[in-house]
Amino acid sequence: MYLTKEEEKILDGDEGEVEERLFRLLVRLGEIYGADKMIPVGSVQVAGVSYKSISDPGIEFLEDMASKGAKVKVLTYLNPAGMDLENWEKIGFPKDFAKNQLRIMDAFKNMGIVVTSTCTPYLAGNLPRFREHIAWSESSAVSFSNSVIGARTNREGGPSALAAAICNRTPNYGLHLWEKRQPNIKVKVDADLDFNADFGALGYFVGKQVKNKIPYFIGIKNANTDQLKALGAAMAASGAVALYHVEELTPEADLVEKNGLETINVGKRELDETYEKLNSGKDPDVVILGCPHASLREISTLAGKLKDKRLKKPIWICTSRMMKEAADRMGFTEIIEKAGGYVVADTCMVVSPIEKMGYKTTGVNSGKAANYLPGFCKQEVVFANINKLIEAQL
Ligand code: F3S
Repeated sequence: MYLTKEEEKILDGDEGEVEERLFRLLVRLGEIYGADKMIPVGSVQVAGVSYKSISDPGIEFLEDMASKGAKVKVLTYLNPAGMDLENWEKIGFPKDFAKNQLRIMDAFKNMGIVVTSTCTPYLAGNLPRFREHIAWSESSAVSFSNSVIGARTNREGGPSALAAAICNRTPNYGLHLWEKRQPNIKVKVDADLDFNADFGALGYFVGKQVKNKIPYFIGIKNANTDQLKALGAAMAASGAVALYHVEELTPEADLVEKNGLETINVGKRELDETYEKLNSGKDPDVVILGCPHASLREISTLAGKLKDKRLKKPIWICTSRMMKEAADRMGFTEIIEKAGGYVVADTCMVVSPIEKMGYKTTGVNSGKAANYLPGFCKQEVVFANINKLIEAQL
């Protein structure tokens, strides 16, 4: 791989021990994947933030980096943490967990990382442009930025994203290259997609079928950005789809080569079977929406459905701190709290320790959450659209 003189000097240790170590990691990755050179990145998003995922060795690694003066050089955001960073006590997150989570946040902050923990950074002030090279790690955010925005990122691991932030570079391979962004399977959809959950079910089904391929969808008549984020998140979870195109809807769909591709068909039957497969429980102890993190539109929809109602069981809607503040101002948070719910910021149902908070069955409208909750949080799952989930709690 070609390295500039400046990059050679980083490897010689001219920029200090931390940068040398992390740059070596990037060079090694580049060599493995056949990158021709390093490219600068416009922004970074780092996963591996929840204490539940990284535990004590993770804290030690981050505190060690921060104490050695590691500083990021580009706009860098974080994936969800393990709890609401402000209201954790009120919502009932365990104290010892909170203590460790706050240490993690301090270490990130000392490295100059924006301590906004969200899997929808594009809704919270970190919005890349079309064709911008970035290094993001959360799989749903990777899918959204590649597919819906047309930015370019591989699915980075936590350490390689951190390295990209500190070195302001990433190896030029994979989805950074136009020829690697071409679809290699067509998906023909013939079903009504009314709810975000329907897009989650579609994504779950397609991800299982296509694994890490790049699907080109036809037959999706319309979809807003919330529905596209639900679709991409589920495909990244059940498969490893990091980029998809939708005819007439996503920015590269007109530009890519889609002739002669093998086609798979998805209709109502496949979606019904997916709903059935993802339902392992019956009566949820808690309903958690906002996977990926809810937009203001999704929070406002929930508030509209809960106005002057009282729920039997709690509902959380997970979101970024920025969206929560807007929801507070609009009075949505108050409506949701009066009904017995919470607008929970900075975290989500998968990376928070819900299994230690007494919950055994969780209701969700997200194909991604339905995929991960049984394994990560030992939950039985009720997977349904928002109307069904709420009606059952009134
Ligand atoms: Fe985001 Fe958590 Fe879902 S990180 S995509 S809300 S599993």
